[in-house]
Amino acid sequence: MYRWTRVLSRRNRRILMVKLSIRLTNIDLKHPIMNASGVMGNSVESIVKLIKSNVSAVVTKTLTLERREGYSTPVLIPLEYGLLNAIGLANPGIDSLYEFVKIVKKHNLPVIASISGRNINEYVESTIKALDAGVDGLELNMSCPHTLDYRVDSIETIREITSSVKSICSKPIWVKLSYSRELIRETGVALESGADAVVLINTIPGMVIDIYVSKPVLSNKYGGLSGPAIHPIAIYCIYSIYREYGCEIIGAGGIVDWKTAIETIQAGARALQLATAFYMKGYGVVNEILKGIEKYMVENNINSIDELIGLAHS
Ligand SMILES: Cc1cc2nc3c(=O)[nH]c(=O)nc-3n(C[C@H](O)[C@H](O)[C@H](O)COP(=O)(O)O)c2cc1C
Repeated sequence: MYRWTRVLSRRNRRILMVKLSIRLTNIDLKHPIMNASGVMGNSVESIVKLIKSNVSAVVTKTLTLERREGYSTPVLIPLEYGLLNAIGLANPGIDSLYEFVKIVKKHNLPVIASISGRNINEYVESTIKALDAGVDGLELNMSCPHTLDYRVDSIETIREITSSVKSICSKPIWVKLSYSRELIRETGVALESGADAVVLINTIPGMVIDIYVSKPVLSNKYGGLSGPAIHPIAIYCIYSIYREYGCEIIGAGGIVDWKTAIETIQAGARALQLATAFYMKGYGVVNEILKGIEKYMVENNINSIDELIGLAHS
């Protein structure tokens, strides 16, 4: 399970053993990089492509109890500094998970089901199906900025959903949140209600207007901003939560190269999720980032990812 890489350190003229593997909420991962929910995790073809990209775990597109069509186009706008999307949680429904899990398991990788619901019952029903399908963990998406009936706004609702899911779930639970002025309290409530880790951050609300037709470009008018534009916000959130709780954090938000990856780990993330990076750079981005992380570790005499986690706090 442990992946050791032998690399010749030019500076030190010796062989270093670099350990990229990590243990995240009791799940062993060969390295810290997985996809973020919403990117290539909603069909068999896209999951096969993800597996080939060398992710260490597969996170599904957020699945709801029933299949959802989502919004009409345009749903995705490429920007200089990231993406703006309002897909509207389009997904094939929780039942598709059975097939997805089978494929990922053939490749011996952990699979995490991202789920969302309009109420506690929907979360609980989806959890039961996800466990039956054989997932290794659950990611509770409580932070989609553009699908309001699935967005969890109150701290009490975070508590109720997390503890209800926890009461029936034997697998690790990750709660996905985004920037808010209440993030520290929200995270505290998620952790005390049984979350094993938090995923930080989801997209941030944004809008783009076409000045020649004087209208917002997205059919939903506003959407979620992702990519390099939100990276400093993600770092701020991860740093603040690690400082407050020292809990396990899966970092997301503008990780597009090895520098932003290492920065996110030093802020406190134990693992990393990529979404916009796949759009910007294609499937090769996982190996490109891993290579950069290895090189940085060798040049700085760092033997394992564990040594890097939260380093910016010391
Ligand atoms: C096109 C697109 C679809 C997304 N869909 C989901 C989703 O279904 N569930 C979810 O939790 N996050 C979703 N996200 C948010 C990402 O998982 C991630 O948290 C966010 O984009 C920040 O990471 P990034 O800067 O690497 O893109 C989506 C993001 C994008 C760009």
